[in-house]
Amino acid sequence: MQGTDHGRRADHGRGGDHGRIPMQSVRNVVAQTDMLAIVREMVEIKKAGSSFKGCCPFHAEKTPSFHVNPGLKLYHCYGCGAGGDVIRFVQETRGLNFVEAIEMLAERVGITLEREAERPEDSARRAEAKSARGRMLELDRAAQAWFRGRLQLPEGRKAYGYAQTRGLTAQTIERFGLGAAGTGWTDLLDHLVRRGFNRDDIIAIGLAKVGDKGGTYDRFRDRLMFPIYTAAGDLVGFGGRDLTGDKEVAKYINSSEITLDGEEENSRFKHFYKKGDCVFGLWQAREAIRRTRTAIVVEGNLDVITLAQAGFDNAVCAMGTALTDAQAKEIKRFADRVALVFDGDAAGRKAAMKAVPVVVGAGLEGSYVVLPQGEDPDSFVRKFGEEAFRDLLQKAPPLIDGYIDALVAESDHSLQANSVILQKAGPLLSAIQDGISRDMARNYLQAQLTKGAIEPHRATFDRYLQRLAPPTPKAEPQQQMRPDATFGEPEVGKLEQDLCAVLVWYPALCGQAAQYGALDLLEHAGIRLALRDLCAVAREQEVDIDTLSGWAQALPDGRARRLILRLLVEAPLCKPDQAQGWLVQVTWRLQERQLKREREQVTEQMKSREVTPEKLAELSTHLSDIMRRLQEFAKAGARQAVAAASGI
Ligand code: UTP
Ligand code: MN
Repeated sequence: MQGTDHGRRADHGRGGDHGRIPMQSVRNVVAQTDMLAIVREMVEIKKAGSSFKGCCPFHAEKTPSFHVNPGLKLYHCYGCGAGGDVIRFVQETRGLNFVEAIEMLAERVGITLEREAERPEDSARRAEAKSARGRMLELDRAAQAWFRGRLQLPEGRKAYGYAQTRGLTAQTIERFGLGAAGTGWTDLLDHLVRRGFNRDDIIAIGLAKVGDKGGTYDRFRDRLMFPIYTAAGDLVGFGGRDLTGDKEVAKYINSSEITLDGEEENSRFKHFYKKGDCVFGLWQAREAIRRTRTAIVVEGNLDVITLAQAGFDNAVCAMGTALTDAQAKEIKRFADRVALVFDGDAAGRKAAMKAVPVVVGAGLEGSYVVLPQGEDPDSFVRKFGEEAFRDLLQKAPPLIDGYIDALVAESDHSLQANSVILQKAGPLLSAIQDGISRDMARNYLQAQLTKGAIEPHRATFDRYLQRLAPPTPKAEPQQQMRPDATFGEPEVGKLEQDLCAVLVWYPALCGQAAQYGALDLLEHAGIRLALRDLCAVAREQEVDIDTLSGWAQALPDGRARRLILRLLVEAPLCKPDQAQGWLVQVTWRLQERQLKREREQVTEQMKSREVTPEKLAELSTHLSDIMRRLQEFAKAGARQAVAAASGI
């Protein structure tokens, strides 16, 4: 289904996107966007009071500190300070620029963006303004539209026929967006160049390559094409399965791994496509995985697709490579458990042995599914049926037990062999976070190792196993710091925070706050300027949510911006009918604080040796004045104090 969406967009091609997008269109798009749905593609979030929270996609954490306010369409992370509106979220999570993010959101809600008329000289600049990632995404989408289109044409008949012989239905082909690369040498290249794509980009992304004699030709020829999506649904590459049956050519070829110019070395978007970062099928499987909390992890693309067609729509694969930490982490975003499925042969067992520590290391639990010799999930399901596969899944031992079995199966039960097993399995057991699972795994290992062992060995094992350290919770790198403790900037005091909270939630009170002189009492210059600015905006117009979030994001002072975005994401400080009372309270406290500071200053000056008798008299009058007013503050209720101090 997603394939269709992307295909449709690419069919519009580049023709439509000229000129500036009017602000009103941006507003429309944002208004119709379901922020929760957008965020949920990246992060698992749960309702927490009036907002939603989950683990931050912008830094590594295990305890959720990422908050989303779906009403305001804002997000904020207490851990790393990331925050903004839904547009920024899309930009930051997908590596797009502003216009590209709007285009993506517009496409989702089905709005055709209007464009203001464009002068010719602007169009070149606009082409340059595209982010490298945006350009590559567009290129892959155009190629995807082309491959899909071929499948319905004579050039694609062979590929379509092949998909059918593999038992795939039209619906499955559609769901996974399969396509065809024909036998022509430059068909795709010509098509893309005609549509205005840059030849170097086409080569860099691996859709075409330069031959020995200097000619450029299509890289994917005579192949059934599998689009590869990120978990967020961005099309970043292709796998192509050979249709010639020629033993000389690779059975599958994949898009070239490329890095992007203009991206920071450590940016998450430095790598546009990297095989070891992508989990094939995760985009299509993620809802099913979320529902079942389980992912079936297999080895091949067609295994994923056949399983999905057979009703196991939570299957994914690592595209033939050993599962990487990055891939396990991607899966972990949606799953708590995996069923690792491997061939019963030596190669399969080897792959399993490599994958288990990776999976456990990512904090996943799961089961260890071994297929009969010579079968892969695709062939198994087609030969023995879904029920048989379900049975296999159900009877599979826990991951660790399977791992231990495999180790034991390879061993000759000598003391030496057993100590090797202990060395391998020990760290794995320690990595299991859940205490009960860990104990069970330990018991299992003990039982397996001591099965045939004579008594003295048994005692040694027991001792070793008892010593296995409980897991050390992995420290989350530096992000444990307090969200407001940004280096080098002064802390924002509680009073300024409260004043901000009242005014951003109830901007109608700005006028009153200005009248009370509350803003002048703020110590933090960034906050003071921000609120003055808000007051100016509020004088001109009624401040609605759009204005407010736009204003907050444009604040030049980082501290003020983060604080205010956070306040907007949080629940309001108070109910509307209490807002005025709050403002009065806060102002009162600010004034009181100011008086106390003055008292300190005056006392300091009085202590000075250089002070003349005249000056001393003046200072002490001032001091008694301050003391009197402070007493008033202490005595009077908030309301009266404010009235007294501001002469209302
Ligand atoms: P397999 O060789 O097990 O292929 O490779 P398969 O998935 O069963 O494919 P069919 O059934 O023969 O069509 C498993 C996965 O490894 C990657 C592919 O992603 C493939 O699905 N692979 C395999 C490559 O990237 N290159 C290759 O040459 C072979
Ligand atoms: Mn296969």
